[in-house]
Amino acid sequence: MSPCPFVSLFLIFFLTSLHAASADGGNTNIIHETCKKCAQADPNVSYKFCVASLESNPNSLSADLHGLGLISIKLLRHNMTHTRSYAKKLLKSKKMDPFIKACLRDCLELYSDAVPTLKEVIRSYKAEKYEDANINLSSAMEASTTCEDGFSEKGVVSPLTERNEDASQLSALALSIVTMLSRSSH
Ligand SMILES: *[C@@H]1O[C@H](CO)[C@@H](O)[C@H](O)[C@H]1NC(C)=O
Ligand SMILES: *[C@@H]1O[C@H](CO)[C@@H](O)[C@H](O)[C@H]1NC(C)=O
Ligand SMILES: *[C@@H]1O[C@H](CO)[C@@H](O)[C@H](O)[C@H]1NC(C)=O
Repeated sequence: MSPCPFVSLFLIFFLTSLHAASADGGNTNIIHETCKKCAQADPNVSYKFCVASLESNPNSLSADLHGLGLISIKLLRHNMTHTRSYAKKLLKSKKMDPFIKACLRDCLELYSDAVPTLKEVIRSYKAEKYEDANINLSSAMEASTTCEDGFSEKGVVSPLTERNEDASQLSALALSIVTMLSRSSH
């Protein structure tokens, strides 16, 4: 028994909070380091976008690289699910350029396929089947580029540019982390 339990308790509390503080600081570093590596490996990943996206999820603060990858895939799925609903909503408006409407229909189909594909990506990723995750992630990624290209080919303004851009960036980020993990697991 310590001669001075209050002091020991205080010490334990102090050391614990010190540890927690350094763990948070350490993890901010993992986020920044991961984003730096991703931006270097793939010019399509913006460092700023990467940090902002990962930090938008509080779970990032206690995640390792595998956890950050999962967070990025889930952010992408969330994003694509929202874009699908948004395209559906836009299609309900009656006054719309028929070319834009046709493109939006294609986009809706593309995103409707991409969302379940991402569910499969999450399954493969959790099982550490990174090659399968990579293939399916790449195919989901194409939804946003194919959607955006549809509008420019018809020479009309895309109402989804910003959302497609977010999805592209998140896909590139997720893909980049998957690639890193598949290299280190070999
Ligand atoms: C970056 O994006 C462009 C356009 O989407 C694509 O053609 C290119 O392959 C991408 N680069 C990498 C390294 O993925
Ligand atoms: C999509 O992702 C971007 C980048 O992380 C974020 O700024 C945006 O709010 C997301 N949109 C939705 C609807 O989740
Ligand atoms: C995922 O990729 C595999 C090939 O590795 C393919 O057979 C499968 O259909 C893909 N799944 C989806 C949902 O696209």
